[in-house]
This record gives sequence, C-alpha cells and structure tokens, in this order.
Amino acid sequence: MIPEHFIQELLNRVDIVDVIDAAVPLKKAGANHVACCPFHNEKSPSFTVSPSKQFYHCFGCGAHGTAIGFLMEYQGLTFVEAIEDLAKRVGVQVPKEERNTPKAERPAPSLYELMQQAATYYRAALKKSQTAITYLKGRGLSGEIAARFQMGYAPEGLQNLREVFPQYEQEALSTLGLTIKNEEGRVYDRFRERVMFPIHDQRGNVIGFGGRVMAGDKNDGPKYLNSPETPLFQKGQELYGLFLARQAIRAANKVVVVEGYMDVVALAQHGVEYAVATLGTATTPQHITKLMRQTDDIVFCFDGDAAGKKAAWRAAMNALPALNDSLKLSFLFLPSEHDPDSYVREFGREKFELELAGAMPLSAYILQELSVRNELDSHEGRARFLDDAKPILQQLQAPKLNLMLRKRVAELAGVTQAEVESLLKLQAPTNQPKAQAKAPRRAPTTLMRKLLQLLFIQPPLALQLDAARLPNNNAEYEVLVKIMQLVTTDRLIRPAAIVENLEGVVAQQLLEDLTSEWMRWEEDEEFDVTEEFAGVLSQLLAAESKQSMSALLAKPFAALTAEEKELLRSYRQKPVLETK
Ligand code: CTP
Ligand code: MN
Repeated sequence: MIPEHFIQELLNRVDIVDVIDAAVPLKKAGANHVACCPFHNEKSPSFTVSPSKQFYHCFGCGAHGTAIGFLMEYQGLTFVEAIEDLAKRVGVQVPKEERNTPKAERPAPSLYELMQQAATYYRAALKKSQTAITYLKGRGLSGEIAARFQMGYAPEGLQNLREVFPQYEQEALSTLGLTIKNEEGRVYDRFRERVMFPIHDQRGNVIGFGGRVMAGDKNDGPKYLNSPETPLFQKGQELYGLFLARQAIRAANKVVVVEGYMDVVALAQHGVEYAVATLGTATTPQHITKLMRQTDDIVFCFDGDAAGKKAAWRAAMNALPALNDSLKLSFLFLPSEHDPDSYVREFGREKFELELAGAMPLSAYILQELSVRNELDSHEGRARFLDDAKPILQQLQAPKLNLMLRKRVAELAGVTQAEVESLLKLQAPTNQPKAQAKAPRRAPTTLMRKLLQLLFIQPPLALQLDAARLPNNNAEYEVLVKIMQLVTTDRLIRPAAIVENLEGVVAQQLLEDLTSEWMRWEEDEEFDVTEEFAGVLSQLLAAESKQSMSALLAKPFAALTAEEKELLRSYRQKPVLETK
C-alpha cells in the first residue's frame, strides 16, 4: 500500500493547474483557470480549476476532483499509476508500505505450486544429465544463464514425474499439461527427453513450459513442444522472458520482441537482457498492450527467413489498434540466414544493438511493404495500393502517425489527401487541440465506473462500502446498490454470479462497459485490486465531501441546521483529501 501521508505530501507538491494544463490547455479567469470541459462536449468553458483549492470542477457536467482524480478519469490511469505519474513529475519515489491485508488469493493456487514442483524437478534433472549440459554448452550458453532462466531437462522415460507427484494420476497434472492421458486411460509425461524452458507470468510463477529436442535426438515429434493452453497459461497473453527482462527493459527503455526461446536466452547470454519472445504464436494486441506498460520503444526482430517476415507483418497489423503517438514501434530485419540467436553469436552485442538502433519505423515498413506488393507505376497498381492501405489507415489509432501516413499514401498513389480520405471513407483527422491529439492511453472513465469495475473483479469489497456517502446522481449508482445487495443480502461472491444477476436488470451496454476492463486488469499481474479499490474510494469520497462542502458554503450560514454546521466545521479541520 502507498502510505497516506505520502499521498498528502504529493498533492501538496504538485500544482493541479500544471497537471491539467498539460492535457487541457487552461486560460486564466480571475482567481481560477478555465477550459472547455474534457469530459463532455461544450462550446463555452465551464470547466474550472482552482489553484487555491487544488480542485477542478465542471459546472456543466459536474465532473470534479483532485489532480489524482483528474489523471484517473482523463488519462484512464489506475490509482497507483496516477500516484506514480505525479511522483515522477516532482521527481520523488513512491514508497511502499507493507500490506496489512493479505493478497487476494489467486484462483487455484495449488496449480502454481504443482508447476513449480515440476520446474524444480526438471532443473535438478538437468544438473544430472551430461548430454543436456553438453547440448546447452554447445549452443553457447553458460551455467549462469541456464540458471537465470531456470532451464531444466525432462529425461527419457514415460512417468518420471511420478517421482515428484505420488498422486500421478490426479487430474490437475493433465489440466496443467504436465501429463497426458491416452485413450486407454494410461497416463504419461508430456515432456520427455527435452531441454525445458519454464515460462513465467509477470509475478514469476511458472505457468508453462517449452521443451526442445536435442540435436541428433531420435525423439520424434516437433522440435519444440509447448504446454497446451491451461487455466494458468494463454499463449496469446504471455511473453517468454518478460518476468526476467522487466528491469532491463525499464533500464534500456526498450524491448526487443523475438520469435524463439533460444533467441531470448542467447541475447541475454551476450548482454542484451531486454528481449522477450512470443510463444509460437503471432504477436497479439494483448502482447503489445502488455509491453506498452513497460516501455514505449518496441523493436520486433524476427528471423530473417520468409516465416519471420510474415510474422513481422502480422505483428505490425496487430499493433495498429493498440498504438498511440508516443509509442515507437520498429522492425529489424536480419539477413535471411540468421535469427537473433545466430546473429548475436556471430556478430556480438554491439553490432546487434547498432542494428536495433537503425530498425525500420512502423510507418516506413508499412509503406515499403505496400509499395513492394503493388507496382506504383501503373494506375491499376496504385489502385490496389490504396485498397491495401485502407484497412491499415482505418485501424491505426495514433492520430499523428495516421495523418503522416495518409499524406504519404496520397503522394505515392498520386492523389490528394482529401481524395484518399473520401475514397477510403476515412474521417478527416479532427482538428481538436492537444487534448485530443494526446490520445489518452485508455478511454476516459469515471471514478464511479472504476469502483464498479473493481467490484466486479472482487465482489466482497462491496462489504466495505457505505452507499450513502457516494455520489448518487449517476446511472452507476443504481448498479452499485444492486451489487451491494447481491453481496450483502444474497451473499454472492463470485464475479460471474454477480454479472448473471445483473443481466437484464441493468442496461446491457453499461454492463459491458463495466466488465470490459476486467480482462485488462486481470491480466496485469501487478494490478492490486484491494489497493486500487481503496484509492478509488478515497478519491470518490474526497470529491463528494468537497462537493457537499461547496453546497453548504453556498447557503447562508444562518440557514444551516446544527448538523450541517457541525459537518462544515469538521470538513474544515480535515485535510483537502479525505480518506476514511
Ligand atoms: N516453435 C514451436 N513449435 C515448433 C517450432 C517452433 O512452438 N515446432 C516456436 C518456439 O517458441 C520457438 C519459436 O517458435 O522458440 C521459433 O522457432 P524456430 O525459429 O524454429 O526455433 P529457434 O528459436 O531458432 O530454436 P532453435 O535455435 O533451438 O532451433
Ligand atoms: Mn534458432
């Protein structure tokens, strides 16, 4: 948990006017600053920022809050991200207090333990297998690197894991893909005679394995055998090596995405520690989103062969919807006979990093690829070029990059930008100021929505709420009350049960919006639901107490009831930001 006193100090050190002005340019108007409200459509400015109160308020739509609340609603940041953002602005570190509430239990923790036990077994088996050690040494890997990646070995034999798991036939093992049950019901190890690469999630739990046959091995089957999709492991979400590479990625402010396990390990062996690999699948938008949280410089470096080129193009296409203008995506194409592993082994780290620095930016890559596919010296070729460009321009989310690309596409096709736009039925880029161009990382959402989203993930949190203290002038309030009922009266605790009970009761669109963030947060290993909940709640209550205080202040003092007077006095004694 972030200590409360730190949050207070932070709010004392930042100026809300600077924070908001950077996103929504403000104009001075008397003691306050104003702008057209970023949270609703309006022509004349009713969005007001008060430097003395360190608070913003929109007289049009009622949006209001502190600098933290603004970042959460406008940029779509989580509470912790908003604190981190502000801390960065004033150059301080966010301290972490020991959490006093135990971490919410992950589903089926024992599955993680089973995977870890298997990993430990494979590691020990590697130490005992001279053949496997010789193989890895032959591929240029040191003992330290093998240890760092927790590499292992699955020896020959059908039921080695029986040694680790006396209940060898238990279903959990086949669910995890460690064992396979054949038609006769006989159970045996999935991985046999393979060098094992454990795959970790972002917390360092082992969630899967990749196993490689050794050269000259009579072992049939594919070169790499991977864990199947299991409750712990979804290929389209995970990146091999990310857990180990995190620090290096932050330090280098860059990540290299490669295709293979061996590429990651070999790059690390040569000092390039910020590489991760997709797991025998195409790069998905989820992969990109996951990486964007670590860095804004992503370089794809796939094999130089035809398959690698194809993978690069798919990665580029899958990245389009996730892109924003501050993200730098580029592509490094190695000579066709190389993959990153062979390249770094032959030419070394420096040369590889030099190549990385010169990687081709996404837009150049797209234009090059489209121009190679279509001959631009004929009308027909240019027409097909425009056809190919259409879905790309439609999907590319980064407004500035999209604009540049339109201009170049128009030039190359020999038409005007306006013609491209009308032909491809693209919306002309809006001429909105900074606020729009800055493209918030995620869609703006209200604090009430965030609160509900968190309740959907962990419904028992509703037990901590006092509905009477929350703002009730919105559609979300009704949902909140229903959830509280389901949890307190009906004693439902499973998220799915809550959703089922709300189907048809609240507006479908709202329900979808509220549950959509689920996925994003659940997949983020660092996301702490309890901490977020406390943060969002504190922001909501702070905004509410400010709000009721202004309402009280607006009344003549004499007209206040004794209770209201007391309330007003108590507000005044409290810091700007209430927490409890
Ligand atoms: N892959 C896989 N199944 C296969 C082959 C490949 O899952 N049968 C995945 C693995 O994740 C592998 C990646 O695709 O790491 C790249 O495959 P490839 O280029 O063939 O292997 P390399 O990484 O070059 O591995 P090595 O150098 O060990 O041959
Ligand atoms: Mn290779």
